[in-house]
Amino acid sequence: MSDKYNDVIQANIKVHSKLASLYAKTEPHFKTENLAIVDAALKLLASETNAKHLLDLGCGTGFIINLAKHHVGHIVGVDVTRAMLDQVDTSGPATIELHEHDTGTFPAEPGSFDLVTAYSFLHHLYDIAPTCSTAAKALRKGGKFYADLDPNFYFWESVKALESHSVEVAYDSIVTREIAAVAHKDDQMNEEYGIPNAVFNDAEYGKDIAGGFKEAEVRKTLLSAGFTDVKFKYYWYLGQASVVNDPTKSREERLVNAELVDSVLQKVMPLSRALYKYIGFVATK
Ligand SMILES: C[S@@+](CC[C@H](N)C(=O)[O-])C[C@H]1O[C@@H](n2cnc3c(N)ncnc32)[C@H](O)[C@@H]1O
Repeated sequence: MSDKYNDVIQANIKVHSKLASLYAKTEPHFKTENLAIVDAALKLLASETNAKHLLDLGCGTGFIINLAKHHVGHIVGVDVTRAMLDQVDTSGPATIELHEHDTGTFPAEPGSFDLVTAYSFLHHLYDIAPTCSTAAKALRKGGKFYADLDPNFYFWESVKALESHSVEVAYDSIVTREIAAVAHKDDQMNEEYGIPNAVFNDAEYGKDIAGGFKEAEVRKTLLSAGFTDVKFKYYWYLGQASVVNDPTKSREERLVNAELVDSVLQKVMPLSRALYKYIGFVATK
């Protein structure tokens, strides 16, 4: 592996060692509504593959493990940051094994897993190819690799382009908030945790330096790794929060409206692609 590959791993260990103790309390993906969405996705995948053995890559403090332990009997979690692994709750109905290891070089028993997961993880890598190969080798034929909460290149590209223009029109606060979130997260992490900007950006290499994931490139990498079919999903469109939190509507109306906007935007893909912040996929071996 190249020096840069290893530098990115070291940056991840530095950043996540600092974040570990508060991670599950501060990260928005641990909110109840998102837990329910991911739990439903895992339940479906586990039943489609009749899963008994699950490998969670970049498992962190156990976001996927906490949900998956109710759907499969055996879970292997892999992460390079000891402090994150120390937070994992290994109690409950499943057997849980944890390994402090780089996922790109992790020697999983070939063909021994039904499901592989990577949640909010792949964009932390310098190169996703070795980790996609780990996933492909670890899975049995027909097994599935579910990755989620990764940045959509086309969204990040559009938001970053806005900031570099000298703007005469005032943007809506939906847009200015997004510019701040996309372009200045490193400053925020420096202020809050004292993490140097360069270290933080290296730790999110696939987002902050490579600029997010392009569906076509990820598909090519997955097919070369040995997967036969890949399905992508795009989600969380710009402005969705304002529809979901609209104080003038009832909860039911807000959800109906949010789904209506989403269904129209999904229909007009790929023209609407840059409006979606996140990308996820399910790849079948
Ligand atoms: C954003 S966290 C996500 C953790 C967890 N999947 C979740 O959804 O909460 C990214 C995790 O990837 C780990 N990581 C980064 N690079 C890695 C690598 N090359 N191999 C294994 N783990 C890595 C970090 O230590 C960190 O725990």
